[in-house]
This record gives sequence, structure tokens and C-alpha cells, in this order.
Amino acid sequence: MKKSNEESQGLLPREAENLRLNKSRHHGRRRFDLGLSPSFASLSIFLMLLSTIVVVTVDIAYRAQLLHDRAMRTLPTDALRFEERPEWSQPIQHPWSLEPSDELDAAWDDLLYPLNIRVTGDELDMLGQNKTNRLQINRGDYLGVLGALHYLHCLNNIRKVIHWDYYESRTPDDLWKTAFGKGHSDHCIDSIRQTLMCRANTQIITAEWVDYDNDLGGREARSDTVTTCVNWESLDNWARQRALRKGNFSYRPRPFKITKTNDTEETNEEPKGPE
Ligand SMILES: *[C@@H]1O[C@H](CO)[C@@H](O)[C@H](O)[C@H]1NC(C)=O
Ligand SMILES: *[C@@H]1O[C@H](CO)[C@@H](O)[C@H](O)[C@H]1NC(C)=O
Ligand SMILES: *[C@@H]1O[C@H](CO)[C@@H](O)[C@H](O)[C@H]1NC(C)=O
Repeated sequence: MKKSNEESQGLLPREAENLRLNKSRHHGRRRFDLGLSPSFASLSIFLMLLSTIVVVTVDIAYRAQLLHDRAMRTLPTDALRFEERPEWSQPIQHPWSLEPSDELDAAWDDLLYPLNIRVTGDELDMLGQNKTNRLQINRGDYLGVLGALHYLHCLNNIRKVIHWDYYESRTPDDLWKTAFGKGHSDHCIDSIRQTLMCRANTQIITAEWVDYDNDLGGREARSDTVTTCVNWESLDNWARQRALRKGNFSYRPRPFKITKTNDTEETNEEPKGPE
């Protein structure tokens, strides 16, 4: 009796009932010894459900794999090396710890050296990118910006806005409103927000009491976790070989004819590149 109760609590109660009937008839012969038509119907339903579950599971796994494959389909993949590093370390390392200065700017300029890179049409096809009207450069290639460098460029712009007391007098007037205006800064903040949320870091940061004074001012953030990072040098080496620098590339004419407002003459000027 106890056994039957356990069985009737299974996933498919109706089938369990049939089993129970069969059991009493055949003295404990199990599971596969099902009765005739009602049990056959149950079995069919069970198999249909099972095959639906299998199909849905395989489909979900396949889609996840597709998404993963697409995320992995990047140009520098083969060039990248990875390393284990502390999640983050304090205090700020040289040269990033410097006050705004020519030396700090030189460090940022060097970091951003390969901001704009040369990408071939075949590579864009491989990445599944639409090439229609995309900004082209000489030799039929395209202008590309590596994601990480775009976000670093944004971070550097925000850094300059924060230290505007230092940078204002050093910034040409025409950049004042564009690169360092609120519009571009908001674009930068949101780009960084998106990439941080997309590649959500799930490491845990704790706080250590460092002061005998037990108020919250007496604690410092700590992270002892080690994380897997891209070895920056490997990415930087890859990007530098494709760096578009003044003098070693030129823009292809834009695809649209420009008609000046009070001038009927059509021009086909070279476009101005991104900063
Ligand atoms: C490619 O881009 C062009 C221009 O924006 C657009 O008209 C076209 O629909 C796009 N093609 C695909 C497949 O998305
Ligand atoms: C452009 O020139 C820089 C040096 O100024 C070089 O490192 C880079 O490889 C060159 N890029 C291309 C695509 O020729
Ligand atoms: C073209 O526009 C500029 C200002 O936008 C004006 O100074 C100039 O006189 C105009 N030329 C003609 C031919 O209308």
C-alpha cells in the first residue's frame, strides 16, 4: 500500500494508476508491463511530451551556442592571450596615478594609439557586418574602431571633462562643444554603462576595517579575488599593426553628393574622420 502511494505522487498520476492496476494483476511486474489501450494512450502522451521537451531543450542550447559563437567571432581572437590577475589593485599604478600633465596625456595617447584600425571587406563579411555606405579608406578597406578602445577613448574624454580646470585652456575651441560637450560626454557615459552591464563582472568586493575609529570612514574596499583578463599587450600588438595614423591612409569619397545650401555646385569632399 505504501509503495502505491509513493508511485501515485509521480509526474504522471494517470499512468501511475495504470501501473498500480497492472501490479496487482501481475504480482509486482514493473513499469513496462502496461495494460492495453488506455495505457497505450498514456504512453503516447508521455512520449509526445518527452519529445517536445527534448526538442525545446536542444533548440534553447542551439540558440545559446549561436549567441556564444557570434560573441566569439571577433577579429583578434587568435592573437589574444589571457592571464590571471587580481580583480583590481590599489593604490592607482603609475602612470595613471599622475596629476593631469603632459606625461599623463602621453600615456593616454599611447594607449589610444590604435583607436582607428584598418579592416578588410572580407573581415566585415566574416563578422556579419553590413557594408552598405560604411566609411571606406584606401585599398578598398574600411575604418574600424576596436570596442575596448572606443570605451577607453570615452573614459579619457570624461577624465578631461572632470579635470577641465587643467584642460580648458589646452583644448582647441572647436573641440570644446563637440568632444567635450555634454552631448558627447553623455554618449560616453552611456557607452561605458552598456559595456559594463553587458560583460557584467560578478566578483565580490568586501570592506575591511582599517581604523580603530569604528565609524564608516574607518573602512576600505578590498578585493582578494583573482580574475582572468586579456593580456593587454597581446591585443595592443594586434591593433597597432592595423593602426590608421595620419599619413598612412586616406578616406574614400563619401557615397552621397553634397549640395551646399546656397550653392548649386555639387562637391564630393573627403569626409572628416572620427576623433
Ligand atoms: C544594410 O544597410 C543599408 C543602409 O543602412 C540598409 O538599407 C540595408 O537594409 C541593410 N541591409 C541589411 C541586410 O540589414
Ligand atoms: C600606419 O603607421 C603606423 C606607424 O605610424 C604603423 O604602426 C601601422 O602599422 C601603419 N598601419 C598601416 C595599416 O599601414
Ligand atoms: C552663401 O551663404 C553665406 C552664409 O551662409 C553668405 O554669406 C553668402 O553671401 C551666400 N552666398 C550667396 C551667393 O548667396
